[in-house]
Formats: sequence, C-alpha cells, structure tokens
Amino acid sequence: MRKKKIAVLTGGGDCAGLNAVIRAVTKKAIIEHGFEVFGIEDGYEGLIHNRLRKLVYDDVSGILTLGGTILGTSNKADPYKYIVSQGRQVKFEDRSQEVIRNFKQWGLDGLVCIGGDGTLTIAHRLYQDGIPIVGVPKTIDNDILGTDITFGFDTAVEIVTEGIDRLHSTAQSHHRIMIMEVMGRKAGWIALHGGIAGGGDIILIPEIPYRIERIVERVKQRSQKGKRFSLIVVAEGAKPEGGEVVVKKIVRDSAEPVRLGGISFVLGDEIERMTGLETRAVVMGHLQRGGTPTAFDRILATRLGVSAVDMMVRGEFGHMVGVVCDKLIPVPLQEVAGGVRRITTENLLIRTARSVGTCFGD
Ligand code: F6P
Repeated sequence: MRKKKIAVLTGGGDCAGLNAVIRAVTKKAIIEHGFEVFGIEDGYEGLIHNRLRKLVYDDVSGILTLGGTILGTSNKADPYKYIVSQGRQVKFEDRSQEVIRNFKQWGLDGLVCIGGDGTLTIAHRLYQDGIPIVGVPKTIDNDILGTDITFGFDTAVEIVTEGIDRLHSTAQSHHRIMIMEVMGRKAGWIALHGGIAGGGDIILIPEIPYRIERIVERVKQRSQKGKRFSLIVVAEGAKPEGGEVVVKKIVRDSAEPVRLGGISFVLGDEIERMTGLETRAVVMGHLQRGGTPTAFDRILATRLGVSAVDMMVRGEFGHMVGVVCDKLIPVPLQEVAGGVRRITTENLLIRTARSVGTCFGD
C-alpha cells in the first residue's frame, strides 16, 4: 500500500510554540501512522513557489523549546490575492490554481495549516477549492474564533508580566507614571491578562474605549493616597471614546496592511500635560513573540499537533482543532474564517480586576 503523505506549513506572524506543533505533527504521523511528512517553507509562499522539503524524525527532534518556526513564515502570501509589486505600484494576482496544481503534483493526502485568522481564512478557501486541510490555531493575540485559547498567548503574557514587574521598580523609585504598550490588534487579551498578572493600576483595551479624564482622575487619586506612581498597561488597539486607533505604519504589500502602535506615547504626553507628573512609555513589541515557549504553550502545542493528525486520519478536513473547556474538538473552518474573538463586557476577568480596583478608563 502507498505510504500516505502529509504536509505542514506555518503562516502569519511567528509566536512561541510553532516548532512544538511541527514536532508533534511530524512525530505522531511517523511513529503511529508511518506517514511521510513534508514541510512547506514560508507559509503559503512555499505552496505557490513549489518549496517543500521532507521532514524526518531527526529534523524535528530537539525543537520543542525553540522559538520561531523552522519552516519560516510569511504574512504577505495570499494565493487568492498574491501581491506583485511593479515599481511603486502594487498589483494582485490570483495564484490559487497553481497552488492546487502543486498540491496534486506532490501527491499529498493532507495539509496542516498552523496560523492565525488570516492563514485560517485562506485555508478555508483552499479547502473549498479541494485541498484537504486541517487548521491549528496560533497567535499571541488569542483572538481566534472557535477556540478558548491559542498557543503563543501564554508565553506572550509571561513576557509582558515580567516587563511590567521590571517597570514597577522604575515607576516606584522615580515616582513616575509608566505605560507599557502591548500587542493584540483588535483584541485586549494580552493587555488584560498581562495587566492583571503584573498588577497594572489602569488597563486599557480595544473593547472598552477610554476617557482620558477617567485615567487622569485615577492617577491623581493614587497620588493623593500617597501612591506616587502608577502603572498603565495599554493594548495597541485601545482607543478613546469617539476616537481612533493609532496606526504605526501601513505595510502596502501585506494582506492586512494596517500595523497598530504608538498609543502609549500619545497617552503619555496627554497624561503628563494634564497631571504634571513625569510619564514614560515602553513598547513591548516583538519581544512578545520570540523565544522559548512556556510549559503551558509546549503542552498545548503538542496536544494540538497530535490532535491535528488524529483529525486527518478520521478525515475531518475543513476543520480547525479548537480548545473548548479544555477539550480538543473539530471546529468548521467556516466558523473561524474572517472573524475576531474579542473580550466581552461580561468577561469574568474584567469583573475580577474591577473588584480589586483596576481602572479600565471608562
Ligand atoms: O497578530 C500578531 C501580531 O503580533 C499583532 O499582535 C501585531 O499587531 C502584529 O502581529 C504585528 O505584525 P508585524 O510583525 O507584521 O509587525
């Protein structure tokens, strides 16, 4: 009987735990099923340009703790809207037929797509066009529909928490207001979890537009009570009531061109002007995505990788492995594509934080 062939790719921004999933998929497929496994380089870029390599047991041995992805990734290559730059002009081409052709020529029986909402939305279209795909949810933002948690998030929160702990020292010693800006795009999960873990006095998230007066009031209240410093954790996507997000740059050749960033500096200037208190801003940036995954993320990534292969064996294509109440279940990619899982106002953690006096700027 012909050996089954499966491939794996990582798409979108990197995060801790990607290699742990690649390792789990490859080991499980080889050890339990005798499959041949291939790695596609640089996400959908490799699918378009025919770049795949065989993965044997030794290729994935020793990568559990390694940050990034051994396969490389890209957040620009959408086969349905592939960007071709001509001088300053940006044009798009549909290269999906080449992808489907390549996939067939390689004789693959299935593809594991590890990625965030962008990657999984493309995965859904490719599945509809005939490619047997299983998705694995990945992002530090924790904002994918159909799953309670994504790997990479716990590591990011850990890094943010350590950062806040370190900022505390300077805030306290210099009697300053310190602002920590964290990633998360349209969702405030990293700010909420990191902010609570780091004991932030004020947490600003996209889901709760803030009023600057409320922030200033809280900082002054603390000063009056003898607390001569305050720590603010702000999500990059936070915005004032009736206002807009701060855009750092537009990446013209990216499928999702808007990059957020810089809210902490805008906020810092306003707070300093309105309170007369010295204020400093720190942007955590890509530090949140790199390095070794936490134990939690290593375990989650391993469970997801193993489960993705199980789903392939059962023929559950067109689905993503979702984590719901700690159980791994197949979630139709259709329910995941194009959406964002944001924090709701009834979120228990928000209520918990409010109970210990955390201000959300509302
Ligand atoms: O989605 C992950 C993420 O890190 C977001 O939190 C952030 O807004 C974005 O990617 C940054 O993208 P890039 O690495 O392209 O600047």
